[in-house]
Amino acid sequence: MEEGKKFYPTGAYADLRKKALEDPEGFWANEARNIPWFRQWDRTLNWEEPFAKWFEGGLTNASYACLDAHLDSHTRNKVAYYWEDEFGNTRTLSYLQLWAEVNRLASALRMAGVKKGDIVMIYLPMIPELPVSMLALARLGAPHSIVFSGFSSQALADRITDTGAKMLITADFGLRRGKYIPLKVIADQAVRTCPTIRNVVVVRRGPAEQEVDMEEGRDVYYHDLLKNGDAFIEPEKVESAHPLYILYTSGTTGKPKGIVHSTGGYMVFCKSTFKWVFDPRPEWIYWCTADIGWVTGHTYIVYAPLVSGTTSFMFEGSPDYPSIERWWELIERYGINIFYTSPTALRMFMRFGEDPIRKHDLRSLRLLGSVGEPINPEVWEWYFKAIGGERCPIVDTWWQTETGGVLISPAPGCGLVPLKPGSATFPLPGIDVGIVDDQGKPVQDGTRGLLVIRRPWPGMLMTLHQDPKRYTEVYWSRFKGMYLAGDYAIRDGEGYLWLLGRADETLKVAGHRLGTAEIESAAVSMHFVAEAAVVGVPDQVKGEEIVLFAILRQGNNPSPELRKKLSDGIRTLIGPIAVPKEIHFVGKLPKTRSGKIMRRILKALATGTGIGDVSTLEDATSVEEIKRTYEEMKAMMAQK
Ligand code: WTA
Repeated sequence: MEEGKKFYPTGAYADLRKKALEDPEGFWANEARNIPWFRQWDRTLNWEEPFAKWFEGGLTNASYACLDAHLDSHTRNKVAYYWEDEFGNTRTLSYLQLWAEVNRLASALRMAGVKKGDIVMIYLPMIPELPVSMLALARLGAPHSIVFSGFSSQALADRITDTGAKMLITADFGLRRGKYIPLKVIADQAVRTCPTIRNVVVVRRGPAEQEVDMEEGRDVYYHDLLKNGDAFIEPEKVESAHPLYILYTSGTTGKPKGIVHSTGGYMVFCKSTFKWVFDPRPEWIYWCTADIGWVTGHTYIVYAPLVSGTTSFMFEGSPDYPSIERWWELIERYGINIFYTSPTALRMFMRFGEDPIRKHDLRSLRLLGSVGEPINPEVWEWYFKAIGGERCPIVDTWWQTETGGVLISPAPGCGLVPLKPGSATFPLPGIDVGIVDDQGKPVQDGTRGLLVIRRPWPGMLMTLHQDPKRYTEVYWSRFKGMYLAGDYAIRDGEGYLWLLGRADETLKVAGHRLGTAEIESAAVSMHFVAEAAVVGVPDQVKGEEIVLFAILRQGNNPSPELRKKLSDGIRTLIGPIAVPKEIHFVGKLPKTRSGKIMRRILKALATGTGIGDVSTLEDATSVEEIKRTYEEMKAMMAQK
C-alpha cells in the first residue's frame, strides 16, 4: 500500500510524541490552556495510583467551554447542529441558539430542584434535546447518566438504581425505521421499580395526536418546563475533577460498570484529540454516525465538536432506512467533509455494492474515520476507494468508554505517517502504549500481547461509580503501574499498532459492547433455565454474533417455544441488541476442574470448527478430557 505516503510527509508528529513523553505534565498543561478556565489549576496531575486528579485546583464548566466561550467570536452565529430525522424533518441550531436553549433548560431544571452533584438520568433518542439536556445539566454541575434508547426498561431501571437518581429526562416516543417506539411507556415501567425518581421530564417528539400518560405531580413536558426558565443562568464553577457524567458499559463479570468521567481533564482531552485526529477546518461539516447513548456520541458528537466550535450534522435514523442510499444522499445534501462511522455499518453497505453510492456526489468528503471494532483491511480499502474516492485519509481510532477519547489513531492534526489498512497506526501524543505478556513483560514486535497504557492521560475514567475497589481491580491490579485495556494487540516491525479485539469475555456485536456475564445472568433469571453460557462467534457484517448455550431446569424440555421465550426474555431484560443469534439447549456445559466454563470448546461448537490446539489451555484439565467433552457436546447438539 503506497497511498498513505501521498498524505503525510512530515516528521512533526514524531517530534510531538517525543516531547510529550519526555515531559507529560508540561505537555498536558500546555494542552489544557486550549480550554477556558475560571481559575487556573495549581497542580497539573495529582497521581495516587490508580486515582488521577488532573488540573487540580482548576475551576471550569463544560457547558461554558462548549457554548459561552464561543459567544465573543464569529462562532456564535455558526451552526452547531444541523439535525434531520428519518422523515426528513430538520432543525438547525446555531451556537447562540444552542446556548439560549441550554440556559433556559438549566435555569428551569434548577428551579425544579436540580443542583450541583445531583445525578440525572437521560433516556432520549437522537434529537437536539439530548445534547441540550446534557449541556444544561453540565451547566448546573449535575452529572448526567445517559441510557441508550435501545435498552430495555429493565436495563434502564438497573442503571437508575445504581445511581439513585431523582430525575429522568425522556421522550414520549423514539423513532426507528419509520415506526414510533413508545419510549415513555418503557420509561414508566422502569420508574415503577425506582422509588428514587421524583420527576420525569418528557420531550414531545411523537405524533401530535398521540397522547401519553403523564403522572400528575411527577411528570412534566420539557417544553412546559422550558417556559419557566430564565434566559441566562451562571454556569456552576466546578472543580476539574467534578464528574461530568457516568456512562454504564459492559465488563467481563457482573453488572455493567458506571464509568465516571471528570470535567477538566475530559474536556481538555476532547479538545486535543479532536484537533489531532479530525483536524477540522473552521468551515467543515462533520458527521459522526454513532448514537449519543454510547461513548462515541458523548465525546465526538457533543463535547469534542462543541468545545472546538465545529459544525456537526446529527441524524436520527437507521443507515438503511428508507433506503440503502440514505446516508450518501445526506452526505451530498449537507456537504459533509468529515465522516466518522463504524466497520459494522461499512460491512453492511459493502454487501450492496457501489451503485447506490455512485449515484451521489461525495466529493465534499475530506477525512474518514472508523471506530468501535477492528476494521478489516478489505473493508478499509473499500472505504478508501468507494466512499473516499481515494482522496481521503482514514483515521482508524482505537479507544474505549473508559479512555474518554481516542488513544491510538492516525493524527492528521499533528502531521502524519503513511497509513496501513487495518492498523490504527500510532498512539496519540502523550499516550504511552505497551504490549505485554501474561507476566506484564513487553513482548517482541510481531508477537501478540495485551494492550496496556503505562501512564495516566487527562481523558481517563476517574473511577467506577461507588466502586473504587472494582475500578482498581479491573484496570490496575493485573500489572503494577499499567492500565489494562482488555484488548489484544501487535506492534509490527515499523512500530505500527494492530488492534486485534478483546482479550476477555466482552463482546462487540455490531459495534455495541456487551458482556457475556450480563447475557448469561439475564438467561438464568428465567425460571426454566438452570445454567447458561454465552460466546461470541464471527459474523461477516456484525463482527460478532451471540450464541447461547443453556441447560434447562428439570421438567422442561427443549422446544421452539422455550427458545423464543428465552430470546424474548433477554430482549426484555437488556434490549434487542443482546438477543442471541442461536440458542442451544444442552445437557451440560464443559467446565474445567475448578469450575470455569471452557468457552473455547463452546466457541468451537458454535462455529463448527475443531478445537485446535488445546495444549495451551491454562488449566489442569487434560487434553483428552477436553476432546471427550467436545465430542460429547457435539453429539448432544446433533441429536436435536
Ligand atoms: C474495541 C468504543 C479495534 C476495542 C469507542 C475496545 C476497537 C472496545 C477500535 C471499546 C478500533 C474500539 N480498532 N478495536 N479502532 N475501537 N475498539 O467502550 O475492543 O464501546 O476495547 O468504546 O471496542 O468499546 P467501547
